[in-house]
Amino acid sequence: MRNEIRGAIDALAESGRAGRDGLKALIALKDQDETSYLRSRAAEASEKVFSRAVYLRGLIEFTNYCKNDCLYCGIRRSNAACERYRLTADQIVGCADQGYELGFRTIVLQGGEDMTFSRDDICRIVSRMKENHPDAAVTLSVGERDRESYKAWFDAGADRYLLREETGNAELYKKLHPAAQTWENRIRCLYDLKDIGYQVGCGFMVGAPYQTADDIVDELEFYIGFRPHMIGIGPFIPHKDTPFAGMPAGTADMTLNLISILRLMFPDALLPATTALGTISPRGREDGILAGANVVMPNLSPAGVRAKYLLYDGKICTGDEAAECRFCMERRIESVGHHVEVSRGDHPSFRK
Ligand code: 5AD
Ligand code: FES
Repeated sequence: MRNEIRGAIDALAESGRAGRDGLKALIALKDQDETSYLRSRAAEASEKVFSRAVYLRGLIEFTNYCKNDCLYCGIRRSNAACERYRLTADQIVGCADQGYELGFRTIVLQGGEDMTFSRDDICRIVSRMKENHPDAAVTLSVGERDRESYKAWFDAGADRYLLREETGNAELYKKLHPAAQTWENRIRCLYDLKDIGYQVGCGFMVGAPYQTADDIVDELEFYIGFRPHMIGIGPFIPHKDTPFAGMPAGTADMTLNLISILRLMFPDALLPATTALGTISPRGREDGILAGANVVMPNLSPAGVRAKYLLYDGKICTGDEAAECRFCMERRIESVGHHVEVSRGDHPSFRK
């Protein structure tokens, strides 16, 4: 192992910082001894805070209508080949009930930016879920809305919000999105959510088109200032009906390096081993847990609509039932010496 690499990993483990050049070197690590040292230091840090517990989130993908046109995303407005669906409020609440029965204590409502779900519609769905299961957390992931909506949903009982910033850098944001979608508004949303009192999740795609190592370091520096509670990263994977169809995918190796770097920078953050990581590599989610991740998000959507929520090609778990995904994940987690914890899995700073 190179001395400067060992030095950067040790500095990161001891102080949570490694400087821009150190971080750039760690992001790109390929050598086996070096990557396994990075991962083992991160696994140690994770174990200290979470004792090998992995939290489950049941994901309900409730609509794939979207008013946005992100160049990378399979459910973008311009993709006429995408077969659209939206679940009814009763279907959504029913999925959440089934999730609770399966042991989920966090339900994530995720969808495209579908404005037919009004502020009040979402309030009512959140209230019903909280009424049925007061001990479960509700996470929303429905994109950019005004501060009043975020506040109303929080008051209705929503606990957490996931909104990936996608990039810490306005210039790169412009290359990935049409002009109508601004980085400034995305960041405004994130600060509003934090200010209202949500546990907030950020994130980005590893190996997104045009992304450089410097862009990724900008991302990490954004997190130092913003202090997200959760950070979700996965490899970029091209979707055949988008402008980025021909672009190369991000790699599992770089994603795993970044999970470890994030764990060492933010020892108590919630870090998911994402579906995209499981798609690019068959052992991706297990390796993610070994690299420092402590959250998985099995799919709870009705089997009939899953294959339509295709942000990228080849997405896994599109043919399975909720119970299958739930127990498949548990087996995978146990196969690497970790265990599922049936609890809300709040960020340590939010535990009562
Ligand atoms: N590959 C990987 N991740 C993607 N996302 C959207 N499209 C893709 C893709 N082609 C991610 C984005 C978005 C999240 C819901 O999914 O980061 O915020
Ligand atoms: Fe829907 Fe990007 S196309 S959020």
